[in-house]
Amino acid sequence: MAQFSSTFLDEVLSRTDLAEIIARHVELKPSGANLTGLCPFHHEKTPSFSVSVDKQMYYCFGCGKGGNAYRFLMEHDGYPFPEAVEFLAQKAGMPIPDSKPVNPKEAARKKYGLELLDKVAGIFSRTLNSDEGNHARDYFAKRKLSPELIQKYQLGYAPAGYGFMKRCFGDDAKTLKSLEAIGVLIQNERGFADRFRERVMFPIRDKQGRVVGFGGRILGDGEPKYLNSPETEFYHKSHLLYGYSEHRESVRKHQMLVVVEGYMDVLAMASYNLDYAVAPLGTAITESQLRIILRLYENPVFCFDGDRAGRGAAWRSIERMLPILKAEHSPKFLYLPDGEDPDTLLQKEGKEAFEHRLNNDARPMLETWIKGLKNIAGDGAEGRARMAKKADVMLSTMEDDYLRQAWQSEVEKETGVALSMQKRPQFSPSPRQSFTPKRQTSLSVTPMKDDGFMAGLLQKPKRFHDLPEDAFHFFVDTHPIHPIYTRAFSLVGDNENTELDIAAQLMREFPDNQNIARWVNLPTVGDDEFQLLLIDMHMAYLNNLLGHSDGLAVKMRINGELKALKNQQKQLLK
Ligand code: GTP
Ligand code: MN
Repeated sequence: MAQFSSTFLDEVLSRTDLAEIIARHVELKPSGANLTGLCPFHHEKTPSFSVSVDKQMYYCFGCGKGGNAYRFLMEHDGYPFPEAVEFLAQKAGMPIPDSKPVNPKEAARKKYGLELLDKVAGIFSRTLNSDEGNHARDYFAKRKLSPELIQKYQLGYAPAGYGFMKRCFGDDAKTLKSLEAIGVLIQNERGFADRFRERVMFPIRDKQGRVVGFGGRILGDGEPKYLNSPETEFYHKSHLLYGYSEHRESVRKHQMLVVVEGYMDVLAMASYNLDYAVAPLGTAITESQLRIILRLYENPVFCFDGDRAGRGAAWRSIERMLPILKAEHSPKFLYLPDGEDPDTLLQKEGKEAFEHRLNNDARPMLETWIKGLKNIAGDGAEGRARMAKKADVMLSTMEDDYLRQAWQSEVEKETGVALSMQKRPQFSPSPRQSFTPKRQTSLSVTPMKDDGFMAGLLQKPKRFHDLPEDAFHFFVDTHPIHPIYTRAFSLVGDNENTELDIAAQLMREFPDNQNIARWVNLPTVGDDEFQLLLIDMHMAYLNNLLGHSDGLAVKMRINGELKALKNQQKQLLK
């Protein structure tokens, strides 16, 4: 990850208008000190989503998502952190500081590696078109891939023998080492040898379209049928998809994305002008790949062979997708006839029939899931019970509350069993959830004491200065708010004369704690209300202290303080 200094990150944020970023997706209306609208993270009919213009933080009281502008771009628009920073910096007209912490030697080596990968792809491609590539060209012709398509996807050929790379690059030790680092040479007792031999080659590109690795298919039968690049610093098979960079634009244009199993399926579809497929790289699809897919397009169609193995693969995809699935997504699953893949089907029945399958036979994920559950669970009352149990476990992995509830009720209808499923905790980083207020569906609900107190403090950090001396101990060590609260104290102490925004600083230091965003977005805590909350907190603290004190003198002193607080409270309530 690029390193940005915290000053730079702050400066970018201070020049960013969060409301403007969010308004691209949400219609915001003023409400008290904040703006509100329909939450873009979940479906809702009445607004629970709030943006604090003052603190530049958003929070949804329905689904609990919250944070600053970086987080919004990351969570909503799927930007990786560095790209979120770059996006906002650019918008604010700030040049990105040179990411100097990246070792220049390292960077040069990496650049060289990518250049080498590109060169190798070019060599394979030229070899395919040379005399040496006759067989390989015949093979592609047999598989109905046209020369134009071969050119477009830069398909190539790695000839037989172990010394092709040496023939092309010479035997300078350093170059050979680099060729090993990019995954095209293997080093063994006898020196360096080609990894890909007598195979047709598929270059694999990253998001930016740079060649980072290769897949190679044997001509005809033999083992292994496909050989891929090993994991290198460029090639991470579980984060890459074949066809992604080639098809990204086309997916957007056609509003269609098909996920298939193999390289040849991606290419066969492309040769029928269905250039919107991607495939994982020979392994079962990973969560990371599923994220990339759902980010690219919300309604992808997943194609599987209808045989047993295909159904197993579909089931694994469902399991992996559940945690990241949102109500906005509508993936579909398409089972093809036994033993067929998109490539063979297209050759057999042509484009129209295949498109017909995509458009009419693909079933919603929920339906596919329920069918899968039934298959696993079996018949009768016991089967329905097993089905409910399995569903319960799977549902508990889902993050999107609304979607989960909808799916849960479908399973309940199907099985006649009420699911007991425990709701997923909302705050991952805190060990305890005890202080989390009940889900609020509207902004008008008064928060609990702890919450209101924190909201009051973070909305107006000046209030820290007027706290009584023992306020530092209001939260016991084990209380989930304790670390944030004590950190806020020391920030206030260290920055007495500066205008440091405590909430923004806490957000940076506890990026996963969405309470901070929630507190600043709660309805403004007025001064009187804050005084009452403070008295409540103080009395709770003293009562607790009283329970743990022995000495009579101490008890009397505490009782005196409590009495005074009671009086203050009475006054205020009047
Ligand atoms: P063709 O036979 O060329 O049409 O390939 P296919 O895509 O129909 O083959 P298959 O369904 O057997 O494999 C699907 C995908 O799994 C391929 O595109 C490869 O990515 C991967 N794969 C298949 N066989 C192997 C293998 O032997 N080794 C590895 N690493 N991957 C394989
Ligand atoms: Mn095939």
